[in-house]
Amino acid sequence: MRAVAVAKPAGEPELMRLPAPEPGPGEVLVKVVAAGLNPLDWKLADAAGRGQAEAVYPLIYGVDFAGKVAALGPGVTRFAEGDAVFGQPKQGAVGAYGTYAEYVIAAEDGVIAHAPAALPLPLAAALPTAGQTAMSLLDAGGVGPGQTLLLVGAAGGVGSFVTQLAAARDVRVVAVTRGVGETEMGALGAAETLDAQEGPPTEQLREAFPDGVEALVDLASGAEQFAEYAMLVADGGVAISTVHSADPQSLAARSVEGVNFVVAPDADLLARLAAEVDAGRATVRLDAQVPLADAPDAVARNRAGRARGKTVILV
Ligand SMILES: NC(=O)c1ccc[n+]([C@@H]2O[C@H](COP(=O)([O-])OP(=O)(O)OC[C@H]3O[C@@H](n4cnc5c(N)ncnc54)[C@H](OP(=O)(O)O)[C@@H]3O)[C@@H](O)[C@H]2O)c1
Repeated sequence: MRAVAVAKPAGEPELMRLPAPEPGPGEVLVKVVAAGLNPLDWKLADAAGRGQAEAVYPLIYGVDFAGKVAALGPGVTRFAEGDAVFGQPKQGAVGAYGTYAEYVIAAEDGVIAHAPAALPLPLAAALPTAGQTAMSLLDAGGVGPGQTLLLVGAAGGVGSFVTQLAAARDVRVVAVTRGVGETEMGALGAAETLDAQEGPPTEQLREAFPDGVEALVDLASGAEQFAEYAMLVADGGVAISTVHSADPQSLAARSVEGVNFVVAPDADLLARLAAEVDAGRATVRLDAQVPLADAPDAVARNRAGRARGKTVILV
């Protein structure tokens, strides 16, 4: 099968031909229609290259897929051949079950669900990591109707889902981006959009929210900038980082719950996400669709930043 993989530790991803996997007991073979691109893809490959994660080579990139069930291993009952599915592959060493490939193996009781009917199947590949993260961040943030969520890094993959899902719950989303304006973020449901190109707009935020905001979800800042944003969270509120920038101890001293969030994907979360999409409460903000052969370039672009929604790799 065609796949985009890294031949050796710290190598560059490239298009290559590799043997297709075969499903074992309780496993589903998926003919991949599209893979979703996430920063996690290159972060995992980098960690493996540094010897910080167990890996197999060639290391196939990718953790999100959408496709059709092509074959069933013994004992599988939840899925049938031809089902449209989306999710994440069987767990294993980094690169063993990557999704930038024509076929991938998923565990029937793992992170796989029927794809939402409301989206063209390739776009469902944009959902698993970013969408499950967004759903869980809102659960962790605990914000409800009329409350304010300060969202930093709002224009990227996770941010575009958080914005939509929060707005659908009548949460007031204050989006912080670098150069993505009111029109685009407002279309996703943001109540206000602020620009961080010259640094965190904390003064502006303090004036707009003198009593503070109920929750901060920060998808981008390092520890120092995160601490600045977290100062805007009111007593009893929550400040969450997806990039391990929170210092829970110092935040606790101000009665703010600090969280270094790590998503825990599962099939129920995936099914809830599909239901949100089918109910029209979230859709995919598409940044780019690229063919598999162009995936290495798309990964390089993602490393450089400037993500505007999701990139989907057509396999
Ligand atoms: N902990 C977890 O479980 C978990 C789960 C999912 C994702 N993540 C991590 O969360 C981060 C976001 O993921 P993603 O998929 O949304 O990434 P993404 O699609 O690459 O989007 C990141 C967005 O943040 C913006 N940004 C970067 N620095 C910024 C700043 N200082 N102020 C405002 N915006 C800024 C980027 O635009 P510009 O470059 O133009 O500023 C981009 O729009 C990644 O590091 C990812 O690895 C963690």
